[in-house]
Amino acid sequence: MAFARLTAILALAVAANAAVAPTRQVTCATGQKTANAACCALFPVVDLLQSQLFDGAECGEEAHSALRLSFHDAIGFSIHGGKGGGADGSILAFADTETAFHANGGIDEITDGQTPVWKQTNLTAGDFVHLAAAVGTANCPGAPRLEFKLGRPAPKAPAPDLTIPEPTDSVTSILARFADAGFSPREAVALLASHTVAAADVVDTTIPGTPFDSTPFTFDSQVFLEVLLKGKLFPGNGSQPGEVLSPLAGEMRLQSDFVISQDPRTACFWQAMINNQQFMMSEFKNAMAKLQVLGQDTNKLIDCSDVVPVPKTFNQNIKFPASFSQKDVQVACKASAFPKISTVAGPAPTVPPVPGS
Ligand code: HEM
Ligand SMILES: *[C@@H]1O[C@H](CO)[C@@H](O)[C@H](O)[C@H]1NC(C)=O
Ligand SMILES: *[C@@H]1O[C@H](CO)[C@@H](O)[C@H](O)[C@H]1NC(C)=O
Repeated sequence: MAFARLTAILALAVAANAAVAPTRQVTCATGQKTANAACCALFPVVDLLQSQLFDGAECGEEAHSALRLSFHDAIGFSIHGGKGGGADGSILAFADTETAFHANGGIDEITDGQTPVWKQTNLTAGDFVHLAAAVGTANCPGAPRLEFKLGRPAPKAPAPDLTIPEPTDSVTSILARFADAGFSPREAVALLASHTVAAADVVDTTIPGTPFDSTPFTFDSQVFLEVLLKGKLFPGNGSQPGEVLSPLAGEMRLQSDFVISQDPRTACFWQAMINNQQFMMSEFKNAMAKLQVLGQDTNKLIDCSDVVPVPKTFNQNIKFPASFSQKDVQVACKASAFPKISTVAGPAPTVPPVPGS
């Protein structure tokens, strides 16, 4: 009797659980499976992006720029209103206006690259920009598989100028801008993991493609380590606005990354990323999930995350570049111990530029 009642309760619990968490999948005409039939139209777009924009699924210049573009699009937003439609694709649809903003230096290359691909799809500018960022990021080994939500309406107008942080800005002003868009200091640091697959073209125009860490094709935590190393040189034509001394020939250090790594409001979030791949991935994934739907009515979006390719894993320990060790670290977080990191053998490297910049 008691047993029968227990089984009945269990059966009900199983039924209720099935109702809230359906695992049904649809098989698209292309043979791929997804949670929602509306997502089927995206598989051909993913293929188009890989072949026409990302040189066959590479983590190269275009993938990096597509990720940067998603930030510059989405951050045109304020939780208090009046600063644009957020992750609405306005940076692509109104590229003539937004690429002229000072903080968008060099962005015209990726909007020019994306426009002819976008025109071959039926996606809105917002869906296209944020799908491209998710797919481009997935080409980088070590990256988390970013979410992708479908259904952003067409953007109404360009975002206003001065919503995008500049490398010359103070930590206070950068954190204030992130807070105005709804992000905590911790989330701001999480988003800066993107600078592990990044290079600068316009900070010093004499050295296009100068990376921010020694491994710009891998989504590892190397950038969080290298930004803390004692600086000794400028990689190009002397000191430029927004640039501070770098530890390595061929590498650029942004002033903003450095001051954020040193500031008491952010230093421990920064240090926590170092050689902490799974933590960094989940921090970045969560912050990107928020960024990529900023200003959107999320109730109306369809979860098409399963169309995003699964990135290759990265599970090695990171290392100090050759010739560097703990004595070179400008430790700024007093609250927790600095992780133990070994050093690559040999002489200090010169970091090569990212091709195609
Ligand atoms: C404090 C905030 C930030 C500042 C001041 C900043 C500044 C910069 C600058 C100056 C560049 C180099 C541009 C050039 O010379 O070509 C750059 C590149 C880049 N940024 Fe940021 N950034 C910030 C946050 C972010 C965020 C939140 C993301 C993404 C979530 C992002 C993604 C990238 C990527 C991927 C690149 C490399 C682009 C390429 O290699 O083509 N940045 N950033
Ligand atoms: C775009 O929509 C049209 C009309 O519905 C359809 O014929 C076409 O196949 C779609 N193109 C893509 C790339 O999905
Ligand atoms: C290098 O920098 C100097 C001073 O900042 C500037 O006058 C000069 O034009 C720069 N050279 C190049 C090739 O950009």
